[in-house]
Amino acid sequence: MIQYDHRFTNLIDVNKITDMDKDAILCTCNEITCQEVENAIRQKKLKTIEEVGNETTAGTICGGCVDEIYLLLEKINGKVLL
Ligand code: FES
Repeated sequence: MIQYDHRFTNLIDVNKITDMDKDAILCTCNEITCQEVENAIRQKKLKTIEEVGNETTAGTICGGCVDEIYLLLEKINGKVLL
């Protein structure tokens, strides 16, 4: 399980994710696009980063994309369960 430290989310420009090209790769380790993650969150009603990882594999290797996943969860759900 990836440990996520939400203290660092304030360092991320939220526009980076909201303006992201839907076909842009969000998770380079697993070649998962922003659109795939967004679709999974909406369709499966995912609430946590771990659920997104289980469903899409995004964020399950190096963890470098976890901040972006967090922002997508926040954008879609309004909050993120940790
Ligand atoms: S970039 Fe997503 S797990 Fe490495």
